[in-house]
Amino acid sequence: MKNKKSNSTTTSQKGKQSKEKSTKSSMQSSQLMKLFEDELKDIYWAEKALTKAIPKMIKNATSQKLIDALTSHLEETKNQVTRLEQVFESIDKKASAKKCDAMEGLIKEAEDIMESCEEGAMCDAGIISAGQKVEHYEIASYGTLRQFAKTLSLGKAAKLLKATLKEEKAADEKLSKVATTAINVDASQVKA
Ligand SMILES: [Fe+2]
Repeated sequence: MKNKKSNSTTTSQKGKQSKEKSTKSSMQSSQLMKLFEDELKDIYWAEKALTKAIPKMIKNATSQKLIDALTSHLEETKNQVTRLEQVFESIDKKASAKKCDAMEGLIKEAEDIMESCEEGAMCDAGIISAGQKVEHYEIASYGTLRQFAKTLSLGKAAKLLKATLKEEKAADEKLSKVATTAINVDASQVKA
């Protein structure tokens, strides 16, 4: 009898604990979901800003290889905006943007570089430097967003974010290659 009572208390305690655990985990996932949505809005703003900033970089670039790399990434960026809209759709949210201070700063830095340098290899090296900082911000953002989506069991969103993450990494590598093969050597020969 004593044992029976003690067993039933244990079962009820276990039930209470598991209820508390599930409430805690659903609270955590709703907080993570909010963070996921906020970060999505941030990168959506950033990508849209880039569709306006990259054409300016193309206009200021001299090396054909750099112009080609930026032109193809501009097309990818437009596609990434659409892909983000699909991510919003996959979580039943309307796509909306929230100003990304970091991207605004990185774009401003790129504009300052283009204003202060003369056309040619030096300017190209500056554009690549600014472009790679942008890519690294995006790689960090998409890497985090993809992980959040996986944790939240948002399979479709995770897949879409992975596709963009792959493109950002490839764009960064392409810029590194253009810098080392076509530009930095020329830039190093320009007198300061
Ligand atoms: Fe992008």
